[in-house]
Amino acid sequence: MKVLNTLAVLGLSAAVSVSAFAANNSMDKEAIAERLQPIGALCLQGEDCGGVAAAPAAGPAKSPEETYNAVCMACHNTGAAGAPKKGDVAAWEPRLAQGMDTLYTHAINGFNAMPARGGNPSLSDDEVKGAVDYLVENSK
Ligand code: HEC
Repeated sequence: MKVLNTLAVLGLSAAVSVSAFAANNSMDKEAIAERLQPIGALCLQGEDCGGVAAAPAAGPAKSPEETYNAVCMACHNTGAAGAPKKGDVAAWEPRLAQGMDTLYTHAINGFNAMPARGGNPSLSDDEVKGAVDYLVENSK
């Protein structure tokens, strides 16, 4: 899944640079379409399109586990950036003591190095909350 995440991020920057390119050169539409294809394929696999086209709630909602694995795991499985790891009961105990509402708010709006919606603005509030539930349920 980490590889897919990386691809999604790469796809996003490719999409941005391709559209800048398209504005300057309409001769090369076919090549552009070809380069965009892998991005479409990633979206079909249930990855978010990096928030480029997707309004919140666009597309089928992800299950909590899917959301976690697609967006949150990069930091919360590894402890990257100081993220409390999934399954680290001691790290989660004081956070859980804040109450679920605070955890939801922090996950949705961001909190220090924790990016809003895990850095994926196309996630709905419910998808983020589901991922929080999944994360803490596996960290008690
Ligand atoms: C870029 C890395 C990164 C990603 C991606 C990420 N987190 Fe975090 N998260 C953090 C860090 C770092 C903290 C600790 C912030 C602090 O306490 O200062 C954190 C803290 C949290 C907390 C605890 C907040 C609190 O009040 O104690 C929750 C809940 C959380 N993340 C949920 C999620 C969910 C759900 C996702 C996916 C939608 C996610 N995170 C994705 C880095 C990340």
